[in-house]
Amino acid sequence: MSHAEDHAGTRRDFLYYATAGAGAVTAGAAAWPLVNQMNPSADVQALSSIRVDVSGVEVGTQLTIKYLGKPVFIRRRAADEIEAARAVDLSELIDTNSQNANNPASDAADENRTLDEAGEWLVMVGVCTHLGCVPIGNGAGEFGGWFCPCHGSHYDQSGRIRKGPAPRNLDVPVAEFVDETTIKLG
Ligand code: FES
Repeated sequence: MSHAEDHAGTRRDFLYYATAGAGAVTAGAAAWPLVNQMNPSADVQALSSIRVDVSGVEVGTQLTIKYLGKPVFIRRRAADEIEAARAVDLSELIDTNSQNANNPASDAADENRTLDEAGEWLVMVGVCTHLGCVPIGNGAGEFGGWFCPCHGSHYDQSGRIRKGPAPRNLDVPVAEFVDETTIKLG
């Protein structure tokens, strides 16, 4: 078991979201069963891109999928989360880089981290940038975003590190909407 998964509470949290998520994940035309999602075989892990159906993700909730062996959080943010994330001044941030693979040279303004202009969709690799645990989500921590309990890293509603030992914002992977309800990762 990896370090990312050896914290009991974190693991439970991850399982809960993965099981509760209503979205379907497909790799090409083939359905990707949940059992494989949780424990992908080598060939699934080797796929460079997957498509995720996010039509079942309600506002204010999050879907966690596993992609290339790591959890990926797909959050559909509520208006108050967007507003709070966009109100933060860059001077308040520990890491001022967006850490967004789609927009590498940009600063960490919330607008540079979200998938859509309105800021409703936030897609991030769910791996703490300290030592690789999986942070708890759904408004956890002192900044209303994600919290990594192993050493106490707090991330805000944009997944930016705000307090604790983690040095960087949560990574935003290569991702795009390919139609209204499908996000392609990779
Ligand atoms: S791994 Fe997240 S705080 Fe240590």
